[in-house]
Amino acid sequence: MEDYFTLVTGSSSGIGKAISVECAKRGMNLLLVALPGEKLEEQAAELKSKYKVKTYYYHIDLTEKDAPKKVYVWTRENGYKINMLINNAGMGAEGPFERQSASYYNTMMQLNMVALVLLTRFFITDLKKLPKAYILNLGSISSYFPMPYKIVYAATKRFVLSFTRALREELRNTPVKVSITCPGPVFTNSKLIKLLRSKNRFIQLFYNYPPFVARYSIKALLKGKTVIRTDLLSKVLYLTEKIFPQYFKQKIITRIYRKF
Ligand SMILES: NC(=O)c1ccc[n+]([C@@H]2O[C@H](COP(=O)([O-])OP(=O)(O)OC[C@H]3O[C@@H](n4cnc5c(N)ncnc54)[C@H](OP(=O)(O)O)[C@@H]3O)[C@@H](O)[C@H]2O)c1
Repeated sequence: MEDYFTLVTGSSSGIGKAISVECAKRGMNLLLVALPGEKLEEQAAELKSKYKVKTYYYHIDLTEKDAPKKVYVWTRENGYKINMLINNAGMGAEGPFERQSASYYNTMMQLNMVALVLLTRFFITDLKKLPKAYILNLGSISSYFPMPYKIVYAATKRFVLSFTRALREELRNTPVKVSITCPGPVFTNSKLIKLLRSKNRFIQLFYNYPPFVARYSIKALLKGKTVIRTDLLSKVLYLTEKIFPQYFKQKIITRIYRKF
């Protein structure tokens, strides 16, 4: 039988790392992609020895020109056949729009949108030839609404939602299932943990841990769900988006994020 691989971008930390562990637990071979550094090599070695799966890694800055193509070429040259693409790598920022520079926003849009679309474009033709294949994109609760004080991040995640839904529809009669997972806040990197710990206990109740998000998302992906709402906050906000008028939703969201 042929060996297939799951490719996870941003798999050296946070949700991406947890997703790679979840996939390895399920016996899936892995291709780990993230920025240069030692973390990825350690992660690959650990998954290989603990779960006895094939694991290879590739260091690249996905915001660089031609990076998605280089990832694709790396898989082709090494004969790694992919049946699952997980577009996880992403970045965000809070605060008033003017706080971040133009170049920061450019990098964020490159990573959250351009790299995701181009990786999908490079792999889609091969994925369609398989009996079954999956694409999982990382959205967020920010995918549901325009978010003042998180403007560009939320807009990129809205883009991911729109892209995922439309592609899912276009590929309806093919073996490829395209999904988006939309977690609420997740305790991932240390900066975020510090920020979240400084908030009150009620707010902390809504935070998730990466292994939970990873387990829930992969299970739902394999079941063929389109929009994966991993937690209570995500489910409630998704519903709110459908029920309440725009001006009301916007008022609430603005109040929450201004405080945050
Ligand atoms: N954390 C949350 O609350 C939350 C909630 C909902 C959705 N999400 C989404 O989930 C995804 C993962 O978030 P996270 O919080 O787990 O992030 P994270 O902890 O900051 O990890 C990001 C991962 O992406 C990699 N990465 C960053 N910039 C990259 C680049 N230019 N090229 C290649 N790889 C790059 C990082 O590599 P290094 O480790 O080498 O830096 C790391 O592996 C993102 O799409 C995010 O928007 C996060």
